[in-house]
Amino acid sequence: MYNRSEPQLDEGFVRNIKEGLGARDQKRVNPKYLYDSAGSQLFEAICRQPEYYPWRTEAAILRQHSTEMVWMHGKKKISIIELGSGSSSKTRILLQKVLLRQPSLYYFPVDVSQAMLRETIYSLSADFSSLRTIGISSDYIDGIDKANSLIAADRQIPDKKLIIFLGSSIGNFEPKESVAFLRNLRSKMEKSDDLLLGIDLHKNKNVLEAAYNDKEGITARFNLNLLTRINRELRGEFNLDSFVHHAFYNSCYKRVEMHLVSTKDQQVYVGRLGQTFSFDKNETIHTENSYKYSEEEIKQMAEASQFILKRNFVDEKKWFSVALFSPA
Ligand code: AVJ
Repeated sequence: MYNRSEPQLDEGFVRNIKEGLGARDQKRVNPKYLYDSAGSQLFEAICRQPEYYPWRTEAAILRQHSTEMVWMHGKKKISIIELGSGSSSKTRILLQKVLLRQPSLYYFPVDVSQAMLRETIYSLSADFSSLRTIGISSDYIDGIDKANSLIAADRQIPDKKLIIFLGSSIGNFEPKESVAFLRNLRSKMEKSDDLLLGIDLHKNKNVLEAAYNDKEGITARFNLNLLTRINRELRGEFNLDSFVHHAFYNSCYKRVEMHLVSTKDQQVYVGRLGQTFSFDKNETIHTENSYKYSEEEIKQMAEASQFILKRNFVDEKKWFSVALFSPA
């Protein structure tokens, strides 16, 4: 397994916290830092909450259309690269279908949490004897590069790729950034490769807000875990009792925003940065955006990034889309 991150001190994390908490206007942190091993576990738990419709809706779409999703790639053998694989539980639906059409499959899950990756590889190997899983512990773009070079270096590995990016993680990006990201991805794909993208759709505000404010408080723990991570990795002195989770739908930007709200005026020292950060009462740290799209916007996003929207698989309620993007 490849391991690019996970030394004791993650330089990117240091830089992001320094800049993000030091900001004079809105304090913010890149959402990828929510996914340490505790955060990844909590996210898995979020997916099992009844309010969190994206997980089960996407799983239902995959179950209903997996045959078509897999057979659309013609007769050639494929390899699969998955960005942000997490526990790969939904992906199993696709892996199973691919293994009905070819005797073995190279699968490259890419995830920032090395612990999660290790567990996933272990459980996949127990359940799929003909699956060759090569985990890559890194962020998305490095992960693609690494997988591409592994594929290029071994003639046994089919070089026709299906890249999958599920769960609406693309919603974490600003719409402009997501086009830049998709273009970058496109530049790492051949014409015959395909991209399967899970994207959350616009819907009623109450449904959205419930999904990010589950009754069990798991999403709140997931959000607050960022402070635990800063405390542990950067010797921060955040008191978790003086911040609260806040998630709401921002109808101007058509996104769900997640924040940590300071419940009082306070100063927090972060030892490893040698820096103190001030918070006013009700000041927030913006920890995540989750953009929602329409089917038309998905088509535009494909075209703006040199793809064609080949298919758009949507559930009955039109709550979620699994889109197949082919290089234009
Ligand atoms: C993994 C980014 C798709 O935005 O729905 C879930 C993360 N945050 N609940 C999402 C998340 C709070 C999730 N993504």
